[in-house]
Amino acid sequence: MDDLTFDRHRRLRRTPGIRKMVQEHALRKEDLIFPIFVLEGKEIKKEVPSMPGVYQVSLDHLNEEMDRLVSAGVLSVIVFGVPEHKDQNGSEAYAQEGIVQKAIRQIKTAFPSLTIIADTCLCQYTDHGHCGVIEDGIIVNDSSLDYLTKTAVSQADAGADIIAPSNMMDGFTAAIRQGLDDAGHKDIPIMSYSVKFASAFYGPFRDAAHSSPSFGDRNTYQMDPPNRLEALREAHSDVKEGADFIIVKPALSYLDIVREVKEETAKPVVAYNVSGEYAMIKAAAANGWIDEKEVVMEKLTSMKRAGADLIVTYYAIDAAHWIDEA
Ligand code: PBG
Repeated sequence: MDDLTFDRHRRLRRTPGIRKMVQEHALRKEDLIFPIFVLEGKEIKKEVPSMPGVYQVSLDHLNEEMDRLVSAGVLSVIVFGVPEHKDQNGSEAYAQEGIVQKAIRQIKTAFPSLTIIADTCLCQYTDHGHCGVIEDGIIVNDSSLDYLTKTAVSQADAGADIIAPSNMMDGFTAAIRQGLDDAGHKDIPIMSYSVKFASAFYGPFRDAAHSSPSFGDRNTYQMDPPNRLEALREAHSDVKEGADFIIVKPALSYLDIVREVKEETAKPVVAYNVSGEYAMIKAAAANGWIDEKEVVMEKLTSMKRAGADLIVTYYAIDAAHWIDEA
């Protein structure tokens, strides 16, 4: 035994103090972005069945949701709207009195220091549930850009601090950048869902946002999950087109992509910890099969380790409290 040589890695794990000293990555409250779902109507606070703890709220309940967030120390929110009225081209998405526009104005007034991110897409607003507009049964790229740009400008007009386009049409970042600039919003950054896979992990979100496509699927615009080089092409295009942040979505099954995008671009990278990832942990925790807090903190920290600067997560408020407890 005496002449055995090997490395003693356990020296740096011997005490909690030493382990803390050599910890390489940590989750900060500043990293967390909380998604909220707002809808028309009064006195509505409806739990999403497949996402326990996540609520759709009407505007009269919005400030109390925001209070929860602000008092936990979370600094930013991404707003999704569930409109009353849907039509072919998703006109509520860009209406001045659209649900998201109203919510943004309300949050801005009541919580001026919160950073408000607007999700910019058409799927919740179109009667067919696709993220772009349809011509001859096809989701058309270039005409969709006009609607998306109008939506982004209306959200910035309402007071959004960051525009987050998620519809995966080619050129959406370029179109929105130009639209924002022309409308006098040169200083409003774009957080682009540059790398968005056609994922089965979005299922619970579609329940929450009533945004399932009524025909077909999203495979002609969202990416094919096996593809890595395509993710880099998407990220490079978006950087060229003027994206200020790059989102990779979903997060957990795509941490390799988070890492590569981080290394290939000099932009802040955002991992979107999506609804299905949330639902799985909730379900397992409800059964007593896993320790919810430990699992959530481990997975969020693993996203940081993979290279995410920011994380969109339905666990943002809980995680902020757990950071305080640590
Ligand atoms: C809308 C949008 C989706 C999500 C965010 N924005 C759903 C989709 O593309 O079908 C998914 C979020 C989640 O699952 O948490 N374009």
